[in-house]
Amino acid sequence: MNEAYEKIKNRLLEYKKKNYIVPTEKMIKTKEQIEGIKAAGVINTAILDMVEENIKAGMSTEDINKLVHNFTISHGAIPAPLNYEGFPKSVCVSVNDSVCHGIPSKKLILKNGDIVNVDVTTIYKGYYADASRMYIIGEAKENAKKLVKVTKECLELAVNAIVPWETRLGDLGDIILTHARKNGYSVVREIGGHGVGLEMHEDPYVSHVGKKGTGMLIVPGMVFTIEPMVNEGSRLIYQDSRNGWTIYTYDGKLSAQWEHTIVVTEDGCEIITH
Ligand code: MF3
Ligand code: CO
Ligand code: CO
Repeated sequence: MNEAYEKIKNRLLEYKKKNYIVPTEKMIKTKEQIEGIKAAGVINTAILDMVEENIKAGMSTEDINKLVHNFTISHGAIPAPLNYEGFPKSVCVSVNDSVCHGIPSKKLILKNGDIVNVDVTTIYKGYYADASRMYIIGEAKENAKKLVKVTKECLELAVNAIVPWETRLGDLGDIILTHARKNGYSVVREIGGHGVGLEMHEDPYVSHVGKKGTGMLIVPGMVFTIEPMVNEGSRLIYQDSRNGWTIYTYDGKLSAQWEHTIVVTEDGCEIITH
């Protein structure tokens, strides 16, 4: 039995009667599940820290894949991307105009001024945690640095806004979109955050564009990612038809992304990936 769900079931029903969209039982994690997801988060963070120490100009994105793969395995964990729906590597590495789902390659060499997203998802004892960071290689141009900074702010503003039984998923999208637009940027719509913990991608879908006061009610026990992809130019994107995975900006301008897994608590939320 899901005790966490049983405890709040009646309160959820009240909101449902008032026509709110409310989470399902599976979206409310038990204490035990949350402990497991947090343990996966600790390893996931250690991996991103290890990348931070090692990433530099002259490395290939495949070198990052090897580092992440070996570190994960040596800590008794599994890299979730490997073989996920046919994804061929253990981590996503997305450089400059690549929005997300970059496939590590020996041919893609990092150079001074690049902005790089490394997106790590770790399975530990059956539980999943998912987070990504941006890394700046050497000295980047002002516009690149600003995009990276503002995208991080978008994530932080959304996380800090979460008040259980009050905030709705649409509020998060509204906050992210408003902050990005204020800085002259656009937000990717086709890919979003997601429930996470027992699988890599669970419901609900967490859009990074939204309207205040709409969407699912956020309540304690929910575990999901927020992972805004913010573009310097147009929001439009396309998928690499050769590998079927990597997403690029349509106009070739820069894109940045930061991601955390969060657990909603009684009085706010906890980032479990830092
Ligand atoms: N980590 C990505 C996310 O944030 C998912 C990667 S799926 C993969 O949702 F197959 F590309 F690895
Ligand atoms: Co991710
Ligand atoms: Co994710």
